[in-house]
Amino acid sequence: MKQAVNHLIDQIIQSSHQALNANKPCVDHLVSYFCDATKIDLHPDFFVDENATRTPKGKAVSMTTAAQCAEEFLRTQVFIRGVHQAIEDQLAQHQKVNLLYGGTGPFGLLVLPLLHRFSTPRAANHLIGHPPRIA
Ligand SMILES: C[S@@+](CC[C@H](N)C(=O)[O-])C[C@H]1O[C@@H](n2cnc3c(N)ncnc32)[C@H](O)[C@@H]1O
Repeated sequence: MKQAVNHLIDQIIQSSHQALNANKPCVDHLVSYFCDATKIDLHPDFFVDENATRTPKGKAVSMTTAAQCAEEFLRTQVFIRGVHQAIEDQLAQHQKVNLLYGGTGPFGLLVLPLLHRFSTPRAANHLIGHPPRIA
């Protein structure tokens, strides 16, 4: 699975901006790997978002709704590319970058699949939100 996910992330990062529209199958595959790994059913037969959490600042959506965000294939690609670029930019100027990822959702989608690309002492991360359930 790791190799397959890496391959999909390569495609997302290396595509030209114009090619992102054609990458829906790539994002669909990525999402299905995360669903398999976490055993999350993205589209249960009967679903109401009753596991949302009320916070002083508003509604924190449920794990299932948060997971469904991953299917927004342009959003997922643009955010992953943006996070990757931001880490690269910081590492070009600093020895180390600390990542604070608030609202991870169940997949940690925007950061976790990128982490192995950077050596651990250089990219330390802090995850806040639905804790990712992948070991
Ligand atoms: C829109 S989802 C995005 C999930 C993931 N980052 C992604 O892009 O696929 C936002 C996540 O932030 C969580 N969240 C919102 N407010 C939060 C809070 N105050 N503390 C922790 N998590 C929060 C939600 O429950 C949800 O899991």
